[in-house]
Amino acid sequence: MRVGILGGTGPLGRGLALRLAASGTEVVIGSRQAERARAVAGELCGTLGRELAIAGEANDVACGTELVVLAAPWDAAVPTALSLAEVLTGKVVVSVANALVRQGREMHALVPPRGSVAAGVQAALPGSAVAAAGHHLPADTLADLEAPVDADVLVCADAEEAKKATMDLFGRVSGLRALDAGSLASAAAVEAFTAVLVTLNMRYKAHSTLRLAGLEHP
Ligand SMILES: NC(=O)c1ccc[n+]([C@@H]2O[C@H](COP(=O)([O-])OP(=O)(O)OC[C@H]3O[C@@H](n4cnc5c(N)ncnc54)[C@H](OP(=O)(O)O)[C@@H]3O)[C@@H](O)[C@H]2O)c1
Repeated sequence: MRVGILGGTGPLGRGLALRLAASGTEVVIGSRQAERARAVAGELCGTLGRELAIAGEANDVACGTELVVLAAPWDAAVPTALSLAEVLTGKVVVSVANALVRQGREMHALVPPRGSVAAGVQAALPGSAVAAAGHHLPADTLADLEAPVDADVLVCADAEEAKKATMDLFGRVSGLRALDAGSLASAAAVEAFTAVLVTLNMRYKAHSTLRLAGLEHP
């Protein structure tokens, strides 16, 4: 499986690329500047002391993969999707963005047009199937391959093929459990909860993520 990560040069993209590549997935990091993507990919490739399958390309080339993760900042997610709509047609696109703002010692959730970033991305990409997932994963933990990751990944999508492909993707990573969290309508609550999680991490100086109790492993 080949996965493209648009805006993959940032902390979340880097961490996700490492975990996916370590699980045997081919990753193409995308950037607005191909050179920057190549430099980041080169840096990440040798992380495990063995060659990881991570390449770097311009964002539009990274869209040539089977599944595409949109990891640009939340306020750039819809513009980025719009600019790549043609090459994303027919693809599953995963939105990981959280619309958050820091207010003193707390993070607050903003309400984007259409209620969630993911719904805005779906509206910008009528020819693609959008899923929302990965919002609660801490980038720094993902990027440290020595550290175990132990988290649930809530996956929301309207199209079954998008949900299944996204659950398969995150489920490939050791320590992650992908859960079907319903349709894209649930993305608003999933994205907004990240504000609470980040506030908890600030208060307790932690890197906690989400793990639900009482659910049998599907
Ligand atoms: N950081 C976390 O722990 C975490 C966890 C879960 C979800 N998320 C979500 O994941 C996404 C990425 O997070 P991040 O911390 O990696 O973000 P980031 O570093 O702010 O941005 C990621 C990349 O997006 C590109 N970018 C920046 N401004 C852009 C613009 N105006 N238009 C298009 N592309 C732009 C940049 O890549 P190029 O300059 O190379 O194009 C940048 O390296 C965010 O939406 C965030 O809400 C983050």
